[in-house]
Amino acid sequence: MYGDKRYLLGRRDGGSDGLLFLGRYLALDGSSGSPVFLDVLKPHAILICGKRGYGKSYTMGTIIEEFARLPAGIRNNFSVIVVDTMGIFTCMGSPNLAEKKYLESEGLSPEGLNIKIFAPGIHTGRYDDVDALTFKIPSSSLSPYDYCELLGVDPLSPHGAVLAGAICSRNKFSIEDLIAEINSSDATDDVRSSLNGLLTMISAWDIFSADADYSQIMEPGSVNIIDLSGYGHEPGIKSCIVASLSRALYDIRVEARRKENTGYRRTPLVWMFIDEAHMFMDTGAGNVLINEWLRQGRQPGLSLVLATQRPSALGRDVLSQADMIICHRLTLRDDIEALEKARPSYVKEPVNEALSRLGAIRGAAVIVDDTTESYHVVKVRPRVSLHGGGEPIVRNVD
Ligand SMILES: Nc1ncnc2c1ncn2[C@@H]1O[C@H](COP(=O)(O)OP(=O)(O)OP(=O)(O)O)[C@@H](O)[C@H]1O
Ligand SMILES: [Mg+2]
Repeated sequence: MYGDKRYLLGRRDGGSDGLLFLGRYLALDGSSGSPVFLDVLKPHAILICGKRGYGKSYTMGTIIEEFARLPAGIRNNFSVIVVDTMGIFTCMGSPNLAEKKYLESEGLSPEGLNIKIFAPGIHTGRYDDVDALTFKIPSSSLSPYDYCELLGVDPLSPHGAVLAGAICSRNKFSIEDLIAEINSSDATDDVRSSLNGLLTMISAWDIFSADADYSQIMEPGSVNIIDLSGYGHEPGIKSCIVASLSRALYDIRVEARRKENTGYRRTPLVWMFIDEAHMFMDTGAGNVLINEWLRQGRQPGLSLVLATQRPSALGRDVLSQADMIICHRLTLRDDIEALEKARPSYVKEPVNEALSRLGAIRGAAVIVDDTTESYHVVKVRPRVSLHGGGEPIVRNVD
């Protein structure tokens, strides 16, 4: 189906196991050529960037689809976790019937994929055609600093001190335990009542639980979409969830890796996908993602795929730690300059010249691959499952 010639990104030697079909080489005249594959046998840190509407989320969805379509023997090595801030990956269980012909020209056909959808308890009833599972995070997985960030409390204020004291007095607690602890403390009425109000508010988000753990999303071979779109105007809670999740998965994999040295793998390797990643970089979540996942994630087997419209907003660390950058059309000077500053020496032409080869083709991208020290112009393949990120179409409703 793919012909003889192929390009392998993220891997130096050949082989046909553990490959994701990403798309095809894009020639200058717009015609597409040899297939391009991504390696998953090794951990990777991938940044997808590009301006609005040129294919970041679509490309992310294509990579997720390829995981869901891997043969079970390889797929069961992984757990795929998608932090879905806009609720656009939740329709991957439905086939992409609209692009049937295009898919067939690629030897593919529309396909609804086997995914699990998780949402906070108060939002699980929002889906028409799927049964969403309840997602909770362990209340004790967040530090006093995380809680202060979430509640907008200065950690050095009397409120911050009382909150930190209540958190540190127990190993495992629910939000209600914290409220009870603070109410019985000798804090002033003012401190007690304002913390009471704030903690009651976060209890209503129905996301914290004393007994939660992440075993459900760590089933070998599972593709887990965590839909946080219901928290539309609450970026604080989304970043706390990402901080808790990424910290816990890091700890789980570090511990598992130690045991794997002497036995076989019981805990899957993790690929985490975060769209709109700029939302998290200035928060506690960003610290964990940069310091633990990007800097130290290779050894415990943690792979991270981030997508953003604004690569300049992610900071130099992210650009320099990514071992692959998939860059769709980009026109803002700040963003092009940020990529230019991070341009490796094997990319011989300036970033703006390389990007000019993409024209305005949606789904076309320049891919810079550190493993093979090469860069390529690729058109990402069409999606087999429904993409939820397209813009709404205005119809005549007369
Ligand atoms: N590889 C592709 N093949 C075919 N169509 C594509 C491809 N990539 C993107 N498109 C088209 O472009 C539209 C926008 O893509 P996408 O939702 O990925 O944008 P985006 O870059 O994530 O934008 P935003 O920054 O607004 O989230 C898709 O709905 C789809 O119609
Ligand atoms: Mg998008």
